[in-house]
Amino acid sequence: MSDQTRSMESFWMPFTGNRAFKKNPRLVERAEGMFYTTPDGREVLDMVAGLWCCNAGHGHPRIIRAIQEQAAEMDYAPHFNFGHPAAYELAETLTGLTPDSINHVFYTNSGSESVDTALKIALAYQKERGQAARTRLVGRERGYHGVGFGGISVGGIQNNRMQFSNSLIPGVDHLPHTHLLDQNAFTRGTPEHGIELADQLENILDLHHPSTVAAVIVEPVAGSAGVLIPPKGYLKRLREICDRHDILLIFDEVITGFGRLGDNFASQVFEVSPDIITTAKGLTSGTVPMGAVFVSDKIYAEFMSKPGGSIELFHGYTYSAHPLAVAACKATQQVYADEGLFQRAAEMAGVFEDALHSLKGEPHVIDIRNYGLMGAVEMQPIEGQPGARGMDLLQKTFDAGLMVRITGDTIAFSPPLIMEESHIHQAVETLRSILKIL
Ligand SMILES: Cc1ncc(COP(=O)(O)O)c(C=O)c1O
Repeated sequence: MSDQTRSMESFWMPFTGNRAFKKNPRLVERAEGMFYTTPDGREVLDMVAGLWCCNAGHGHPRIIRAIQEQAAEMDYAPHFNFGHPAAYELAETLTGLTPDSINHVFYTNSGSESVDTALKIALAYQKERGQAARTRLVGRERGYHGVGFGGISVGGIQNNRMQFSNSLIPGVDHLPHTHLLDQNAFTRGTPEHGIELADQLENILDLHHPSTVAAVIVEPVAGSAGVLIPPKGYLKRLREICDRHDILLIFDEVITGFGRLGDNFASQVFEVSPDIITTAKGLTSGTVPMGAVFVSDKIYAEFMSKPGGSIELFHGYTYSAHPLAVAACKATQQVYADEGLFQRAAEMAGVFEDALHSLKGEPHVIDIRNYGLMGAVEMQPIEGQPGARGMDLLQKTFDAGLMVRITGDTIAFSPPLIMEESHIHQAVETLRSILKIL
């Protein structure tokens, strides 16, 4: 073991091959705008907004100042039976961004907590309204909903489930994923084929009876499984089926929320209103951990109609609405609005699309897909070694000054919304040269 490897042993890194990484670490120690800087002073272009989260770019002075000022004013406030005025003000601002029927927010600290909170709210809601038999949940293959037990149970990524397979929550079914490579490869925007995959929900409901199902949860655009864009009409069809059977629809917008697709939420982009929206990441542009679960008036009213002043939901976190997160979120939202960053994402989407699709025909590329400022280039796996080409590319791109995200052999992009045309061209040309030598 080298000295460097030994000194890195204490940190058990998340979702990382620790031993391989520590032999050849990819370290960053400063960030500004679109770039990270490595400890040896190299600039690395960030085409994934850290981890799909730094939508305002790195080191925005207004966000930094807000966090600093809040830290000096009040470090922490409890929200169990006490309150901090800024958290209520922020809730009003945030619910101004959601679809009309959604006007309430429950604060969490991460996407995983948002998802488990949403699932618990859905289950409790069904009980509150006298539908206690509605205990089943429906997720989707290749869905990523974080790492809580609820999230991995409704999630559909094999590796995330396998080590815990006997301990997943019961009563969960999965819709088929929508990645139809044969029919939809190299589609720009929403694919033509696959709306009928939403009808599989009817089959699941037939099997169990609709009156046993509490909620369906999907990412409007699946992110972590490699940017899977919903087929045309698919999300609307899901909404229709849920409405027909009085089932809640949850959109996990941890990635798609806050401008990623060129509007506040995917719900607005695809014109489908869910009952619950889960968020995190772009909420604070990744600066301070925070999540938020937005719930419809219908759901909130059900809990608030209980007699007396008892606790309506036995759930919450020590750090729900942490003052630093609230300050970061407020400043982030002001930056998004003042700099028109969601609009900017919409405007840059065409340039991003053209640049990504220019990689068609390069070695190993079997699909390119995109929506808003989310995109992916899928590579043919090396026979018998899935993921190996992806890891090779990750290292080579980092060495060449580019940060992307890899899932298996798919390269994902989710740049900060401040991205300029020059950045996407730099990224694509770097990638093009590396694809040729893989
Ligand atoms: C759609 C979705 N849900 C939930 C999560 C989990 O978020 P976190 O890592 O903040 O727990 C993620 C993270 O990538 C995500 O993409």
